[in-house]
Formats: sequence, C-alpha cells, structure tokens
Amino acid sequence: MDLKEYIEKLREEIRRHDHHYYVLDNPLISDAEYDRLMKELKELEEKHPELITPDSPTQRVGGKPLEKFGTYQHRVPLLSLDNVFSLEELREFDRRIKKEAPNPSYVAELKIDGLSIALIYEDGILKTAATRGDGITGEDVTSNVKTIKAIPLRLKDKIKNLQVRGEIYMPKEAFLRLNQEQEEKGGKTFANPRNAAAGSLRQLDPRITAGRNLSAFIYDILYIEGEEIKTQEEALNFLKEQGFPVNPHYRFCQDIDEVYEYCREYGEKRHELPYEIDGVVVKLNPFAPREVLGYTAKSPRWAIAFKFPAEQKETILKDVEINVGRTGIITPTAILEPVSLAGTTVSRASLHNFDLVKEKDIRIGDTVLVHKAGDIIPEIIASLPEKRTGKEKKIEAPEYCPVCGSKAVQYPDEVAIRCDNINCPARLKESLIFFASRDAMDIEGMGPAVVEQLVDKGLVKSIDDIYRLKAEELEKLERMGPKSASNLIKAIEDSKKRPLHHLITALGIRHIGAKTAKTLTRYIKSIDEFKKVTTDELKQIPEVGDKMAESIILFFSEPRNIAMIENLKALGVNMVEEEEIGEGQALAGKTIVLTGTLKSLTRKEAEEFIEKQGGKTSSSVSKKTDFVVVGENPGSKYEKARELGIAILTEAEFLEIVNQR
Ligand code: IVH
Repeated sequence: MDLKEYIEKLREEIRRHDHHYYVLDNPLISDAEYDRLMKELKELEEKHPELITPDSPTQRVGGKPLEKFGTYQHRVPLLSLDNVFSLEELREFDRRIKKEAPNPSYVAELKIDGLSIALIYEDGILKTAATRGDGITGEDVTSNVKTIKAIPLRLKDKIKNLQVRGEIYMPKEAFLRLNQEQEEKGGKTFANPRNAAAGSLRQLDPRITAGRNLSAFIYDILYIEGEEIKTQEEALNFLKEQGFPVNPHYRFCQDIDEVYEYCREYGEKRHELPYEIDGVVVKLNPFAPREVLGYTAKSPRWAIAFKFPAEQKETILKDVEINVGRTGIITPTAILEPVSLAGTTVSRASLHNFDLVKEKDIRIGDTVLVHKAGDIIPEIIASLPEKRTGKEKKIEAPEYCPVCGSKAVQYPDEVAIRCDNINCPARLKESLIFFASRDAMDIEGMGPAVVEQLVDKGLVKSIDDIYRLKAEELEKLERMGPKSASNLIKAIEDSKKRPLHHLITALGIRHIGAKTAKTLTRYIKSIDEFKKVTTDELKQIPEVGDKMAESIILFFSEPRNIAMIENLKALGVNMVEEEEIGEGQALAGKTIVLTGTLKSLTRKEAEEFIEKQGGKTSSSVSKKTDFVVVGENPGSKYEKARELGIAILTEAEFLEIVNQR
C-alpha cells in the first residue's frame, strides 16, 4: 500500500468512527484512540500537503474567518409548511389528500426546532451548504456546516448530483452549557436552542461554530440524479445508507388516526428527547400523487406541520432574590407563584442580569409569562403590563454586593455586575460547593448546607482549609453527629487521591469543564507541567481553542492561584494524573493482552510485571480485555482490538503508566 492509499484508509477509519459517534451514537473506540488516529492523519498531511483532500476529516475546521457570507440560489425552492393544531384540522388535511390519493399512508416525523439547511453534494463530496433564507436565495455557510461532525463530508456512494434538506439544531445540553458559559463571561445568552443554533451557524469565524456542538438531522431529498425513490420511507432509508443523520423516531402510519396517535405520543415524550421539537411533520408517503396535489404559494399540499401548543404559562412574580455566584456575578432570581409547566412545578426563574430586567420592564408583583429554555430552565418571557394594579415595584440593580457589602462593579463590555472581592463569603461558598461536587473532588457529604455553616462559622476561609478540618469541629455543625463527621473527614481524605483531572475541574478555571479537564490531563500529566505549559502547546491539544488556552495560562499566572495549589499540595492532595489505586498496583483488576515484540522486556518479564502490578495477561482479545499493548510487528490481536474498540497502548505508553507509580 502506498502512502496515498494508507492516508485514505486512515481517513476512512476516522469517518467510520465519526459516523458511529455522531450519527449512530454508538462509539467504537476510546477518545484517546480516536485522537491518536486523527493525530497520525494530521501529521501525515502536514508532511505531504499535496495529498490533502477537501473531504478529509482534518478539513472540517479550516480556512480564515469570512468578511461576509455569500449568497446561494437554491436549485429547488425550500418551501415551508402550513400548520395545524388539532385532530380536526389533521382530518381536514387527510380529506383534501384523499381527493387525489384515495388510500393515503403517511410518514410522521419529529419537527426539529432548528434551522433549515440545504446540502449540495457533487460526486459524493459536500460542496456547498446554504441556509433557507427566503426559500429562493439563502446564505452560503459551507465552512461553518463542515464543522458539524454529524454531517458527512463524503457519502457512501459517488452520487453525481445530490441535494438534501435537513435541520441544524443545538442539543438541549449544549444549549444550557453555552448559556451558562455566556453568563459566566457576562455575555449575551440565547433565548432558546433554535436561536443559539442560528447564532452559532451565522458566525463569520468557523472556529466559533466548531466549538458550539451543533448537530443535524436530514429529512428530505431536494434533487437527485440516477436514483429512483418512490416514497418518503425509501428516501429516509436512502439517506441513512449514504451516512446522513436521520432522526430515528419517524414512523410509517397506515392512516391519519395512526398519525394522530404519533402526535399525541410525542406531545408527551418531547421533554425526554435531548433536542427540542415543536411539533410533528406529516408527509404523504408515496411520491406519485405529490405533483397532482401541488403547492400553495409557499407550501406543498402533501405535507403539514402538526404544532404542539407553546409551553408557557402566566404566573405572579412574588419577589426577587439576589445571588452571588462563584465568579462573583450578581444575578437576580425571580420567586414565582408556583405553576406547573412542561412536566414540573416551577417556582423560581433566573432573570439573568439587571439589564434584561430593565429591558423587559419586569417588576415585583407583575403577572409574567414563563417558559422553559431548552425545555429545562424556567425563564420569564415577558411581563404583562396590562395586568398591573399600580402596586408593582421596580427592580433595581444593587450598588453593593448583598453579601459582603463591597461595591458592585460592571466591566465595560459586560452586561453582568460583579462582586470583585475574591474573599466574599458568597463566592467562597459557591466555589466550595463546586470544589466538592462529583466531577470535581467528589467529596460526599459536603453539600450546600454543610458549606454554608463551614463558611458562616469561620471554619473555612479559603478552599484549602477543607483539608485542615478536624472531626471535632465538624461534630459541632447542625445535623452532624460523630458518625457523619467522621464519614465526612474520610471523604475529604479520600478526595486527596483523585487523579489530576478532578483537581483541574475543581479549580474552576473559566471555560474548563470536566470533559476538557480530562482531555487536558491526557497530555499534561502533572500540575508542575500545567504551570509551565505554553499557549501553543495547549492549542495543539484536540478540542482546546484559543479561549480555553488563554484562560489556563491566565489562571496559572495568578500568584494567588499558585499559592492555593501549593497549599493543597502541602496538605497531601494528589497533583498527577493517575488511576485511583493503591501503590504498586497500577494494573489492579485489569486484563491485558500483549502482541508483537517488545523492545525493553521479554514476553515473560512483561507478564510477570503485569502480575506484580495486580493485573493479568490473556492470550486472546475479547470485550473483557482492558487494553492491548502493541510491540513491533503486531499480529491479528491488534486488528481484533481495533475492531472491538479496545484501548491500544504502545510499549512506551504502557511503561509510562506502570512506571508512574
Ligand atoms: S419537511 C416541503 N421535515 O419545519 C417540506 N421540515 O415549518 C418542508 N422542520 O422549514 C420541510 N423538522 O425547517 C420537514 N422532519 C422535518 C422537519 C422540518 C423540522 C422544519 C423545517 C421547515 C419547517 C416547516
């Protein structure tokens, strides 16, 4: 196999894993193994730029920021749909269809609440992606769409000309995370996942889009050459086969009653889905009658949208609570007359910031309209001034921190106001709760109620004080007997042994969540290395962007942070990345397979070594294998391990793990 073929094989392999991860939601290999494949491809392409192809997985984020988007004339207009809201209207639609197609069957699909996109493939390669615009002319957003990993850059077949339509969306979780980040930065939050998706896709810098976790579902073939597709079901199957993400919840319905049953079912299940839907799209399954049925001015007569009722309710805003978060941001929270909404009772809603309160003219005592952003976070859409009695009270931004009394500050390009006193007890409390949380140091029993008392009683004045607590002190806290005090001391003690990524998460570095912390510590294995790392080195790490790199550098250049880390170190907190296991038992409970020739050990020595470290060797690879160590000229076990997605280590990596302890 020559180099060109090898590179193409590598790309195929990466594409396969992208498809499994982003489309089928069923990853075959570990992140580390995936990174390794990607790194190999990047290095080869760097050495041989003449071999780079536009459909290479490395080309998802490339190019420079645009000045502005170009326009794109759609070859087939992107129509919209008429809406219905009831069973009666659905039957009316069915009656109209029956005039031309006597026994209609339908396909019911979820109506994804995102934005419409057209994808243009030539010879099986993604050439252009354009927004719907007015249906005739859209915007060319190709470089942004290419960053969405669910969208294939290359199809299974080399279809000469294919245009498809689908929906770009932001999963609820990504939306909530994005808003949280925006809030932490003091930036603008998005009202719902659709706006967030639209805002993220319309970024002139594709690197921003790449960091936004957008995804997509494709549901329509706009144009195809050389393929005869006769029904919507066939169309969806064809799209799936070509590697497109097709929403798995669609259903073939024999008649309109089955369609209505589907609408009812998903009207209830909608809150369990990881993305927002705003209804069901009902499509006549056979294509043949479509032409006869024709189109109205803007929509086809063979499809309709069954819209779910908007989930919003009126209630009374009783009071406003002012909170100070971990980063010092002072936020208003509305206390509401409890109201049931989208499956839960809502009695509080974030008001985000005081600018927004002013803009929306929300007052205490107002009747307000509430909904759930991302289907989860209660929010006030608007106040209803026509319902005022005159007794309502305006909400003013505080001039001083409500907890420590320092002057509240507002930075020039931020909407948030902050308490800048890092010793503010409110900030300390939030930081401690975060420090002890599961993804961070995971200290069981150190929740808000305990933290509240520790700070109020002056037992903890800075984070490292946690590790100076004594059982006698804890026993004096409310609802804390000798038993729970000693349990808490043990939990605190145990937390000292957590691998480094927990500590990195716990430090609460801006933009660095648990997942990024884990990625970072795969490359940066000790706190001392973190102190020395450079921006360039950080940016080489997959998924670490400019913002994250900057924030890490800033954190480790702050003497106060370094002092705190040194204190934690002196108190015995682990500062390196390793598994949580006893000394000398690096491989406890692990099953390991060796293949190929090792350079520094004989096979027998390696086996003894593994045994001494608490592991066992096996001669064949199975799902139970924890990892495979690959020497020179590996055999079929290597292939098997890759197939099963078992972690693969080189000899050097293996020795690094066992020698670290
Ligand atoms: S079919 C002519 N299917 O809903 C066919 N649309 O109100 C038109 N949408 O603009 C579209 N999920 O952006 C179709 N499964 C789905 C959909 C879907 C969401 C959006 C689409 C369209 C709007 C129509």
